[in-house]
Amino acid sequence: MVEEKVETEAKPKHKARTFRLPEADDAPSPVPIADLDGGDDRRASTGIDELDRVLGGGLVPGMLVLVGGDPGIGKSTLLLQALDGITKQSAGRVLYVSGEESPQQVKLRAERLGVDGQRLLLLAETRTDRIVSAVERLEPAAVVVDSIQSIYDPEIESAPGSVSQIREVAARLMYMAKARAVPTLLVGHVTKEGGLAGPKVLEHLVDTVLYFESATGHPYRILRAHKNRFGSTNEIGVFEMEARGLMPVANPSELFLAERPEDAPGSVVLPAIEGTRPVLVEVQALVSPTTFGTPRRTCLGFDSARAALLVAVLERRAGLQLLGCDVFVNVAGGMTLREPAADLAVAVALASSLTNKPLPPRTLVFGEVGLAGELRGVTQPDVRLAEASKLGFRRAVVPTAALKKTDVPADVEAVGVGALDEALEISFS
Ligand code: TYD
Ligand code: MG
Repeated sequence: MVEEKVETEAKPKHKARTFRLPEADDAPSPVPIADLDGGDDRRASTGIDELDRVLGGGLVPGMLVLVGGDPGIGKSTLLLQALDGITKQSAGRVLYVSGEESPQQVKLRAERLGVDGQRLLLLAETRTDRIVSAVERLEPAAVVVDSIQSIYDPEIESAPGSVSQIREVAARLMYMAKARAVPTLLVGHVTKEGGLAGPKVLEHLVDTVLYFESATGHPYRILRAHKNRFGSTNEIGVFEMEARGLMPVANPSELFLAERPEDAPGSVVLPAIEGTRPVLVEVQALVSPTTFGTPRRTCLGFDSARAALLVAVLERRAGLQLLGCDVFVNVAGGMTLREPAADLAVAVALASSLTNKPLPPRTLVFGEVGLAGELRGVTQPDVRLAEASKLGFRRAVVPTAALKKTDVPADVEAVGVGALDEALEISFS
């Protein structure tokens, strides 16, 4: 809990400024939508394909982008590389505002990255008014502000990073971006829970929210759009952190498949939905005969009551002999699966381990399993299949119900099944 001063005096002033509209003489009047120019041809490339794709095809003039991610994940690195890329694509200057690091620190990073532009300008500044006037003076082609939590508005009394400061600073920078038509990228810190630090209004205000994340203990990083007013949120960008900065990974599917033992029995890949985003997760199961006492049912990242239920269904509806066995279920990468769509993956992994037969490569499964052994549809099958296709999977065993009105990607063969025993038979064929 942090005490915050309520500013009764300053309030009308700050309100008036935050919501100031363009000058009266250029106030827009309604126009037919057919006469408007979408301006998609004015997209500017950052020179980094993976980033451009997540942005929806590049930066749009006046676009305000928020990039969130854990400390040390590479936000500053990515944005510095993006600015460098922009100077190589266009003739303009770009501005990197650092509120956290000294110009020397940024320079050191730039040297590591091999960035040495005359047109890449550095500014160590933490006051919004000075940042805005620098942008008005320099008219850069793009601006990076690293980070929004370190910038403050001197007219507001609370500390930098507090809710009212972040709201005010973001609003100031948004008006700057829109008025100057300059694409502006903000770095945002995340909380311990993984959400962006600051008020929710921050996410509403900006055009695009990107999350930079990494799988625990892996050198690769995934960039995802959480919100995008200028493109799809289904795209991901994959990078690898190397000694000379972030390198785009051209074929992410190979990278992901390399991480798991492909021919190992008991390993099954599942396209799960985490929040609003699809994530491919590996479910592992190990079944071994109980040596003494009662059989053990141990689950990590999966509900053990649910696993016990699946064991019983496998036993009764699919004829597998599991009752005299210890059963272990693990969700790789420390993830926790809570949705019923994971049922089928756990059931197939158990069957695979019991029969010692691996699943064919590039196959994945998802679906809810009922007590009668029936398979039920799950939410967002198209998002799951699209993610599977993107990461190189070519065959999916899914409940028939999930295929109704679903766009199946052209390169994925989706097999609809109605019951668990049928699903097992088809999965291993
Ligand atoms: P950084 O961009 O500073 O992260 P963030 O701004 O998200 O906090 O990068 C952090 C890590 O990346 C740092 O621990 C060192 C590593 N790194 C490399 O491995 N190679 C490089 O070329 C650079 C610049 C950083
Ligand atoms: Mg940083």
